[in-house]
Order: sequence, then structure tokens, then C-alpha cells
Amino acid sequence: MSGVRRARILDAPAIARIEVETWRSTYAGILADESLLGMSVERLTATWTSELRRWPRGIMVWDGGRDGLLGYGQCGRQRDRSLPFKGEIFMLYVTPDAQNNGIGRQLLLAMLGSLATSNYPSALVWVLRNNPARFFYERLGAKLALHRQIPFGGRLVEALGYGWNDLSATLDHWVRSGDRSTGR
Ligand SMILES: CC(C)(COP(=O)(O)OP(=O)(O)OC[C@H]1O[C@@H](n2cnc3c(N)ncnc32)[C@H](O)[C@@H]1OP(=O)(O)O)[C@@H](O)C(=O)NCCC(=O)NCCS
Repeated sequence: MSGVRRARILDAPAIARIEVETWRSTYAGILADESLLGMSVERLTATWTSELRRWPRGIMVWDGGRDGLLGYGQCGRQRDRSLPFKGEIFMLYVTPDAQNNGIGRQLLLAMLGSLATSNYPSALVWVLRNNPARFFYERLGAKLALHRQIPFGGRLVEALGYGWNDLSATLDHWVRSGDRSTGR
């Protein structure tokens, strides 16, 4: 059956493939061509295999059954303790051919649900200023909270921090709207 589930070690090659495909389609013209062309599914498979061994709980995939994996995301404790958010969405990628079908929303709500049940009452996501994905996060209730230059793809780029101050309220809102994919 299709839908969100926690990632397994055997998902590493599919996660790596989605990462390469989405980075190249999303960040062309934003990040240096060399860093996009230099991405390797083999190297990323090794990285994801060790990440899945180390901390599988924070990694979720959208499994399309016979169509394979169509998206993935990673979440956990917020990395910068000086910021007023406890949890963080580290990444969220839906393969280009499958975007705009509700997969990103299901993955995001599942991760926010997982953070809430892990006792993180709030969450943050960083998105490049030039990436239209920020409008997706706004649609899902995040509010612009922070600006920062971050190292990304080998250069410093301007990023925006979008926050959910109250994950319970966000999740209640989406459950009331009929979305059952909160992972709770
Ligand atoms: C951003 C991303 C995760 C969204 O996932 P998706 O499956 O395409 O989005 P969904 O179909 O779940 O969209 C949910 C809602 O957000 C809206 N939305 C999605 N992308 C949007 C965009 N770029 N601009 C405005 N609204 C957007 C949809 O229209 C939908 O609205 P609705 O509730 O009114 O129907 C996906 O497009 C993606 O992987 N993009 C490339 C990689 C990327 O930038 N990731 C984020 C890095 S921080």
C-alpha cells in the first residue's frame, strides 16, 4: 500500500537517487553547477546507509509500492540550541515527477507528528530564499522567523527559517481538515 512509513536500511539507494534528482532540478541556477554535477548516487547511498544505521527514527519515506520510493524527509532535535525551536525538519524531497500530488504534505505532517510525540513542542525548517518551496511551508502553517547565511553546496547562501511555534495546534488543524497522515 502507498503512503508514509519509517525508512529502512535497504531504502538507502532509493533515497540517494531522489536526493540527486531533486537537488539537480531544484537547485540548478541557485547552487554551483560543479557541486550538482559532482553528486554521486553511490556515495550518497553509503552516507544514507550509515545514517539509517545510526538514527533511523528520524527518517521517513513515501512508499509508492510498485512505483518505488517517491519522497523522503529527515527530522530531529534542532541543531542550534540558541534558537527558540526544539525540533527541526532537516530535509524534505519529493521526486520531480511526483510533486504537487500531496506527498510532501503527508511526509511533512508525519514528521511534525513524530517530533510532537518525541516531546518537541515547536519546529523549524531552513529553506533557501530563492527556493519556491518556502511557499509550501507557509501553506502548511509555518511562519517566517529567521534569516541567515548558511553554507550550502559549497558556498554561502541566504536562507530563511520558517517555524511552527505550536506543533499540537498545527497538527490538530490538519487533522480537523481531514488529513490522517500525522504519524501519531
Ligand atoms: C517542496 C516539496 C517538498 C512539496 O512537496 P509536494 O508533494 O510537491 O507538495 P504538495 O502537493 O504536498 O503540496 C501541498 C500544498 O502546498 C502547495 N505548494 C507546494 N509547493 C508549492 C510551491 N512551490 N509554491 C506554492 N505552493 C506550493 C500545494 O499547492 C498544496 O496546496 P493545497 O493544500 O492548497 O493543495 C516538493 O515540491 C519538493 O520536493 N520540492 C523540491 C525540493 C525542495 O525544495 N525541498 C525543500 C527543501 S527545504
